Amino acid sequence: MSEPVFTELSDYAEKLIRGRHATRAFRPEVVPEDTMRAIFSLAGAAPSNSNAQPWRVEVVSGASRQRLADALQAAHAEQRTSADFPYSEGMYAPVHQERRAAFGAGLYGALGIGPDDYAARAAYDAESLRFYGAPHAAFLFVTGDGGARLAADVGAYMQTLLLAMAAYGVDSCPQGLLSFYADTVRTELGVTDGKLLVGISFGYADESAPVNRVTTERAALETTTAFHV
Ligand SMILES: Cc1cc2nc3c(=O)[nH]c(=O)nc-3n(C[C@H](O)[C@H](O)[C@H](O)COP(=O)(O)O)c2cc1C
Repeated sequence: MSEPVFTELSDYAEKLIRGRHATRAFRPEVVPEDTMRAIFSLAGAAPSNSNAQPWRVEVVSGASRQRLADALQAAHAEQRTSADFPYSEGMYAPVHQERRAAFGAGLYGALGIGPDDYAARAAYDAESLRFYGAPHAAFLFVTGDGGARLAADVGAYMQTLLLAMAAYGVDSCPQGLLSFYADTVRTELGVTDGKLLVGISFGYADESAPVNRVTTERAALETTTAFHV
């Protein structure tokens, strides 16, 4: 088997894609506005079915970020959840559950939270509604009928956005949890169109936080991918 040919671009791609990690503790410094515009402009180059680009992106910073964080805490305390996309534990296959358990053990282990300490895990998750301390958050809505094919397009946008952030030295955490409070996000931001897929907290990592040293594994290529000839 021959070795892959590394060009300058593939070398950068390896670094960019493998170098992106979910960040769960941020410093307060804001991302400069021109950097922000460059990142979101680059993310807009994401592919979509027939180039429909069915995403709507709402970015909060400063006072709007603070108001939304407070509203999310209140919604959580009052158990006012509202998810536009259905969720159930049953959607995961056993192999997914194994990977999730391994991830959870690594994450909560780094936080010093034991495997059976459900109260501490819940408290940590609730606190994450403050965007892990990030100064900005982006909310990705699926417009049109919000169906699976359009949601997949917005998924492609999400990864393009995460990589664009990484390329500009901005750290991020996609947070599905934020989508469980879709009505709260809609009300606070005055959004009338679309289904909320995910929120993304972003800014600059607090490198001293142990939680940011959590690493994740990936399944071996052969277990996910077949090459037919
Ligand atoms: C759609 C989506 C939703 C996610 N939701 C959360 C979340 O609610 N909270 C969280 O801390 N991380 C969340 N993550 C981050 C994943 O846990 C993380 O991407 C995964 O464990 C792989 O780790 P890595 O991103 O560091 O490579 C989410 C990631 C994706 C793509």
